[in-house]
Amino acid sequence: MTVQEFRRLFPILERKVYGKNLVYLDNAATSQRPQAVLDKFVQVSRESNANIYRAVHKLSAEATDYYEQAREATRAFVNAASREEIIFTSGCTAAVNTVAYSFGEAFVGAGDEIVVSECEHHSNLVPWQLLCQRKGAALRILPIDDQGHWDLGLLKTLLGGVPSGTQAGTRSNQRVKLVAVTHISNVLGLVNPVEEVIRLCHAAGVPVLVDGAQGIVHEKVDVQAMDCDFYAFSGHKLYAPTGTGVLYGKKSWLEQMPPFLSGGEMVGTVTLEAATFAGLPHKFEAGTGNFAAVATFPEAFRTATLAREPRLASAFEATCAYLETALRGRSDLRLYGDTAPLPASVSDKYSVPYRRAGVFSFTIDGVHHEDVAQILDKMGVAVRSGLMCAEPVIRHFGREGMLRISLAPYNTMEEVEYFIKCLDKAVNMLR
Ligand SMILES: Cc1ncc(COP(=O)(O)O)c(C=O)c1O
Repeated sequence: MTVQEFRRLFPILERKVYGKNLVYLDNAATSQRPQAVLDKFVQVSRESNANIYRAVHKLSAEATDYYEQAREATRAFVNAASREEIIFTSGCTAAVNTVAYSFGEAFVGAGDEIVVSECEHHSNLVPWQLLCQRKGAALRILPIDDQGHWDLGLLKTLLGGVPSGTQAGTRSNQRVKLVAVTHISNVLGLVNPVEEVIRLCHAAGVPVLVDGAQGIVHEKVDVQAMDCDFYAFSGHKLYAPTGTGVLYGKKSWLEQMPPFLSGGEMVGTVTLEAATFAGLPHKFEAGTGNFAAVATFPEAFRTATLAREPRLASAFEATCAYLETALRGRSDLRLYGDTAPLPASVSDKYSVPYRRAGVFSFTIDGVHHEDVAQILDKMGVAVRSGLMCAEPVIRHFGREGMLRISLAPYNTMEEVEYFIKCLDKAVNMLR
């Protein structure tokens, strides 16, 4: 399939804004939805709209079937060992909060530690801050260097402690109870070495949550090969509707964790005094799920899989490379995050090479990011500007905000060329 053919699957890309062709370069915030996803949502809403699991009637059975087909599609998409390990949530944020609360209740106490990195989205930072405040635990930070890389030697130091085995679901006498890191930063766009982090953490008996909101979009994720304990992502960045998300968790952990939200359908028996809980995954799915939206997951995953086929994947790489070269060609522009590690002469830290995945954040001397974004908008180009819900990483580079271009496989070379021209014009207007 060519980029043009892939692009035609997304009707919104035909629209105009302010009389100009829409050039949508804000895909890391929300990707666009293909017609197949829109159709499925409408079909389930029009033909099979009834509460899932609750009733014996035909419509409820159909809606439930769609929901469970979506669960199986999700299991297969991330290669989880069983459907019990796939929890549907309202998004990545809700998935991380579920672990912060439920894992926190079961395994985190006063004096314990949680490790997050300096380049986390607020969704994988603030829930851990609140957990630590609730429990009297300490939040430890794995810093980034000026390339945007983690120092894995420092991670080893943070883990300190006595190695206590890698068995998922076993308690350890480690002070660090969990490491929560992002697969791909929504600012730096670098693919972080999460496999290596997991290996180091497991050697120290520490489980790992991976925030996959961006990672699931650009990387083929196999949770069993990765061996993460939890993997969280949103549907709306992966061609599905908003209000959908997934928490993958190893069964051995999920079984030991108390529920987060409570209410209908997550229970076994209920008396006026107490309740027992349903088995996995329902224990973590209180209330009526967003079933018509979740039902579109098979179509969304098919779209993502299509985008990874060699022809589209290499076109995407070429478009990204073209954009990066153009950005680096401006002497007044600073692009954040670098794939090359610092040379050994400058740093003796334990680092690995990085790759960039479709996300480019930068600043331009003498112009404000917000002003540039507003002018680009009037030219039909949608980009992100500001703190991007990741204030600490922006501050690391001494900035008040940045501009971000995030590409999807439906973005064409011509769109990137147009964006570069518009950027020149915008900057000239502002100087
Ligand atoms: C890396 C990362 N984590 C978490 C989130 C939160 O996702 P959501 O708002 O869909 O819950 C985002 C969204 O931008 C993100 O980029």
